[in-house]
Amino acid sequence: MSDTATASPSTAAASPTAAAPLKTAAGLLCRHPAVACACPVDGHLLAQPAAATLPADRAVREAAHTAGLAALGSVDWAAVADRVAVLDAAAHAAMGATLAEAGLFTAAGAVHPVAEVLTALAVAPRHRRVVRRWLRELTREGVLSAAGPDSYRAERPCTAADLDVRLARLDAAAAGLGHGEQMGEFLARCARSLPRLLRDEVTVQQLMFPDGRTDTADSTYRDNLASRYVNGVAAATLRHVAAWHAPDTPLRVLEIGAGVGGTSAVVIPALAESTDPVDYQFTDVSPFFLHVGREMFGDRPWVRYGRCDINSDLSAQGHAPGSVDVVLAANVLHNAVDTGQLMAALYRLLAPGGWLVFIDTSREHPQIMTSTEFLMSPPAADPDARFTDGRAERDQIFPTVAQWRAAAEGAGFDPLWSLPEPGHPVAGLGQYVHAARTRLRPDPAGLRRYLAGRLPDPPQVAVAPTLPAPR
Ligand SMILES: C[S@@+](CC[C@H](N)C(=O)[O-])C[C@H]1O[C@@H](n2cnc3c(N)ncnc32)[C@H](O)[C@@H]1O
Repeated sequence: MSDTATASPSTAAASPTAAAPLKTAAGLLCRHPAVACACPVDGHLLAQPAAATLPADRAVREAAHTAGLAALGSVDWAAVADRVAVLDAAAHAAMGATLAEAGLFTAAGAVHPVAEVLTALAVAPRHRRVVRRWLRELTREGVLSAAGPDSYRAERPCTAADLDVRLARLDAAAAGLGHGEQMGEFLARCARSLPRLLRDEVTVQQLMFPDGRTDTADSTYRDNLASRYVNGVAAATLRHVAAWHAPDTPLRVLEIGAGVGGTSAVVIPALAESTDPVDYQFTDVSPFFLHVGREMFGDRPWVRYGRCDINSDLSAQGHAPGSVDVVLAANVLHNAVDTGQLMAALYRLLAPGGWLVFIDTSREHPQIMTSTEFLMSPPAADPDARFTDGRAERDQIFPTVAQWRAAAEGAGFDPLWSLPEPGHPVAGLGQYVHAARTRLRPDPAGLRRYLAGRLPDPPQVAVAPTLPAPR
């Protein structure tokens, strides 16, 4: 792993007869306050950094969850589940209607290979994944079934007959989930435009930002129940981090994919309450959103604006290793081509003991599949571009909570905490906040000096985020 740091690579490894002294040295190194554990590897010692613990670090999770619930107020969770079901059903009806209008799966028992479906819908190559995901989703719903490795059978006929009825219920259901009235309209606009979206004759941006207005996106990322909970959790977490940050240096926050500022609009005012300095970078891959940010936060001189693309080298974009105390990212990290590589890059970017706080969806939302998912298709110039972290095999876009945890821990982060807990009614909304810290970064030469004070002939020491499994 490229993060492995060595005391002095030019000096030779310890002699092969040094196994017992190496074990003794490993035992001593484990007592160093910046080391979690150490083990002998190929004649030297490998040390894993200790976790940075803040007073009340564990309590922050409880406090953050409480703040998230407080942002929701009182909620009738049974009614919420019904409204989610209405949105799901409308999206399923829209997928079915689109297939039926192309003459596909119109009778029970009809079988169509995926290739035939793509041709009948004249799908732009970059959106093929969208259709493959619909076919899987309709199979999960029991509308279709697998009829071979690349073929589907209709269990129930697809039809456009009930689309209007389903779409007519969208407004009330979306409003009941706390979305602005624009959301139901936007979802219905997308549902009716699916054939044109698939052919790339219209874009989701055109449907989402009619006349350049951002109120639909505002309602997506700010006003609804899921956003209120996750933004409340994120703001409480950052407030806690700011409270414990050493006051002599500003708390350096980098927000990635800040977009229309749904999360920033909650977090920035929370940080403004801090009596200590904050340096907040509001970034996005698209310069369009930097204008939005300037309009929202231009009166706060400690907020800066800039571009940041998670799929390009961060240091080449001016984000030096170890230069940030908190990375905040809401609904953007799933855009990483490779979540493992992204986690490793964010780990390098963060200072020792730094925090990664990110919000992401971990539910397959049918209404996303028929709307904003088109934004996640590869570019037309590279329509077959794929995720390289295992998601492509299952046509998956949003990593599960377990996949995020594995990616973060593989990069060396402390185990991730995620809210809400599984089984909590908020989890039905599918949005999670994950938080993890980088470990302390002990200097290998310093560790060797530490051993030199205790042993006559200290071995080489290297530092790595994770240790190899015992052989
Ligand atoms: C779903 S929106 C999130 C909105 C925003 N975080 C909020 O809370 O309002 C995703 C944002 O991520 C940005 N984005 C997409 N790909 C990105 C990338 N590779 N690097 C950085 N940002 C990206 C988009 O431009 C968009 O603003």
